Amino acid sequence: MNNIQKAAVIGCGFVGSSIAFTLMQSGIFSELVLIDANRDKAEGEAMDLSHGLPFTHPMDIRAGDYDDVADCALVIVTAGAGQKPGETRLDLVHKNVAIFRSIIPEIARRNRDAILLIVSNPVDVLTWAAWKLSGYPANRVLGSGTVLDTARLKYLLGERLGVDSRSVHAFIIGEHGDSELAVWSGANVSGISLDHFCELRGYYEHDKADEWLQREVRDSAYEIIRRKGATYYGVAMAVERIVRAIVRDEHSVLPVSNLLQGQYGIDGLCMSIPAVVGRNGVEDTLEIPLSPAEREALRDSAATLRGVVDSLEL
Ligand code: 2OP
Repeated sequence: MNNIQKAAVIGCGFVGSSIAFTLMQSGIFSELVLIDANRDKAEGEAMDLSHGLPFTHPMDIRAGDYDDVADCALVIVTAGAGQKPGETRLDLVHKNVAIFRSIIPEIARRNRDAILLIVSNPVDVLTWAAWKLSGYPANRVLGSGTVLDTARLKYLLGERLGVDSRSVHAFIIGEHGDSELAVWSGANVSGISLDHFCELRGYYEHDKADEWLQREVRDSAYEIIRRKGATYYGVAMAVERIVRAIVRDEHSVLPVSNLLQGQYGIDGLCMSIPAVVGRNGVEDTLEIPLSPAEREALRDSAATLRGVVDSLEL
């Protein structure tokens, strides 16, 4: 029987440790196990984080090994190489699929009922690989997908329009990577269509602005990596949001990466479209209306991923 209060984070690099830091502060779990190929690193992170417990919520954060995942309700996988300056996420695929070949069976052998939340890149390909390697049902294998890209879009729109980014409703869908796309046709600010809202704020050049915003979102990670070598705070907060939706059974609509089974004519690939996320993982995927250009861009994004997935022998 899995313990809904217990999670494991596999991989204690910048991303895994930032996720642990965020989860510790959110108070969602009473037990968090950190697992890393370098046990010292996991122990050091657990010690450092534990010293902050008097300022947050009582919980147990400790280094562990795969036996500790046996009763975890949630296993968050961040292990693998990260992008170096100039590398794309897809450049990491062979290195990180090899790492997943060793990690995922270790988890699946000990726990058949957990939810696997994949964060390592290229996240869509690795979510698919985790689904294949684990033998879990697809609803319990999801990736952080474009939740972060969507947050980046909301942030940029909020800044530009001078409104709370939480009032902005828009999605980035497709690959978490260079072929992702913004769904402008459904974007709105608290129910007011985005174009209309922009005009209320004195902006009229919608096509130019859309193009600029989409490029900024797509290139965000490159810009951060060029300056500081890695991205981790944003993704950690995106993961906390997904975890909260799962553990609290919120049925939140989030663009997580999940196996598509015919939606928009795409089959057998993991990528992001809006999904209802709750205690069972992905409870439903939502085929939101897309303009013809958006449909085509989504199909192109799927074709990019298909090329990579088909080259893997899994
Ligand atoms: C990000 O988008 C690199 O996937 C990571 O920040």
